[in-house]
Amino acid sequence: MNKSMKAYLVEEFDNNDTSKMQIATIDVPTIQEDEVLIQIAGTSFNPADRQVAAGEYKDFFSVPMPYVIGMDGSGVVVEIGNKVTNVQVNDRVFSYLGYAYGGGAGEFAVTKASNVAQAPKNIPLSDAATATGAALTAWETLFENGKLEPGQKVIVNGASGGVGSFVVQLAKWKGAYVIGVDAPEHLDAVKMLGADQVVNYKVEKAEEVVEGEVDLIINFSNAPNSQIQGQMSILKKGGIVVNGNAASAQDMFQKTGGNQAFADGVVFDEPEDTKDDFEYIVFAVHPDSSALTRIAELIDEGMIKPYITKRIDVSQLHEVHNSYLKGQNVGKVAVIVNDQI
Ligand SMILES: NC(=O)c1ccc[n+]([C@@H]2O[C@H](COP(=O)([O-])OP(=O)(O)OC[C@H]3O[C@@H](n4cnc5c(N)ncnc54)[C@H](OP(=O)(O)O)[C@@H]3O)[C@@H](O)[C@H]2O)c1
Repeated sequence: MNKSMKAYLVEEFDNNDTSKMQIATIDVPTIQEDEVLIQIAGTSFNPADRQVAAGEYKDFFSVPMPYVIGMDGSGVVVEIGNKVTNVQVNDRVFSYLGYAYGGGAGEFAVTKASNVAQAPKNIPLSDAATATGAALTAWETLFENGKLEPGQKVIVNGASGGVGSFVVQLAKWKGAYVIGVDAPEHLDAVKMLGADQVVNYKVEKAEEVVEGEVDLIINFSNAPNSQIQGQMSILKKGGIVVNGNAASAQDMFQKTGGNQAFADGVVFDEPEDTKDDFEYIVFAVHPDSSALTRIAELIDEGMIKPYITKRIDVSQLHEVHNSYLKGQNVGKVAVIVNDQI
């Protein structure tokens, strides 16, 4: 195998100067006994890719330099460590590679075998990366933290977003009544994803247009705290709020210490004095190959599909980062690294 590869990376934190992102030739990473090497077909964009490259989390966990961008990856396993039993060479897999690994925008990426699952079969392998980090975040939000049950009512802020688009579809699959909150230009997409009711956050307040109370409020957007607090006026006693937005996450990393948060995913409740009335959860996604396996099955069964709004070649990756900085991303951007595998 080639010992060198091309990868889209930052040599050092770029403080959101995306002209510092570059394609460079570096060594193919080597694996430890519990890791696998994946020949990458595709990755996808997550806001956290930009935040890590900018250096926003550098005080909370160590980032290997040069940092190959891309926390999502799909491709073919080409090498496994001695202790790996869950996947084999030539398996077609997808993975939320993890914050500290990154690597999706390289020709080859390494991650723990426990972060990897068999990819869905009925979408192109290069698209499968779009259903890793964001889909896993949605899964953990709804079913681990939100404890969603059929028939419950859930508000989803950022419903057309990378995470929100999976939250809406998974909540509908579970049998919930879904209220999707987003900008007016995204509301047709939110309906198409299956939401029962849509709310234009620019002119409406969910608490004024939703009938009755809700069981769960989810935020994967830059909604201000006042928006979520307003919605909490119609939250049932004992209801749950799951807030995954970046600023809330940073707050969490400060409180918990980033390494632990990024390695394991961390959940905590706040504020303490209101705990009896509701649960307020801020959390970070953690790798989970059994949840990814379930996500692949649901894609193959036609129950959910990634809301891919754009496909680009990896050489255009900086353009997605620039769009994100201008606030222009919707849904998932599939980034093709190699569509020949
Ligand atoms: N905690 C975790 O583990 C985790 C994991 C993944 C992502 N995240 C975070 O979750 C957030 C969303 O990520 P993403 O990839 O889904 O982003 P995204 O694709 O940019 O989606 C965000 C969506 O929210 C909409 N929005 C903006 N302001 C809103 C408001 N006030 N009310 C309702 N919707 C609003 C946006 O619309 P317009 O901007 O067009 O108006 C956009 O459609 C980011 O902060 C990201 O860092 C956290």
